[in-house]
Amino acid sequence: MLLPSVQKRPADFKDWLTDAETTAREFEAVLRRNAKEKTPYSATAGKAYQRAHAACLQCHAKYRDAPQKPRAVLAVAFEGLHHHR
Ligand code: HEC
Repeated sequence: MLLPSVQKRPADFKDWLTDAETTAREFEAVLRRNAKEKTPYSATAGKAYQRAHAACLQCHAKYRDAPQKPRAVLAVAFEGLHHHR
C-alpha cells in the first residue's frame, strides 16, 4: 500500500519507489545469506548493492536533486487538504 502522499506522485516516481524497495530487499537477502555462511563479501553482494544504488539514484536525480517548482508543491499541499476533508 502506498501512502496517500505517494499516490499523488507521477507514475515514474512510483515505479522507481518500487524498484528501490525490491532491489533493497534483494540486497538485504544477499547480505543475510552471506552472514549466515560467514562470507562477508561476495560478487553477488556487490552486484545487488549496485542495483539498489542505481534505483535510489534514478529517483534522486529527477525528484530530489533537481529544483522543484514551489507552486507545484503548494498545489499538491492544497489538493491534500481538499481530499482529507
Ligand atoms: C521514488 C523516489 C526515491 C527513491 C526511489 C529514493 N529516494 Fe531518497 N529521496 C527522495 C526525495 C524526493 C528526497 C528528498 C526529500 C525532501 O527533501 O523532502 C529523498 C531524500 C533522501 C535522503 C535524505 C537526505 C538527503 O540526501 O536528501 C536519504 C538519506 C535518501 N533519500 C536515501 C535513499 C536511499 C538509500 C534510497 C534507495 C534505497 C532512496 N533514497 C531512494 C526520493 C527517492
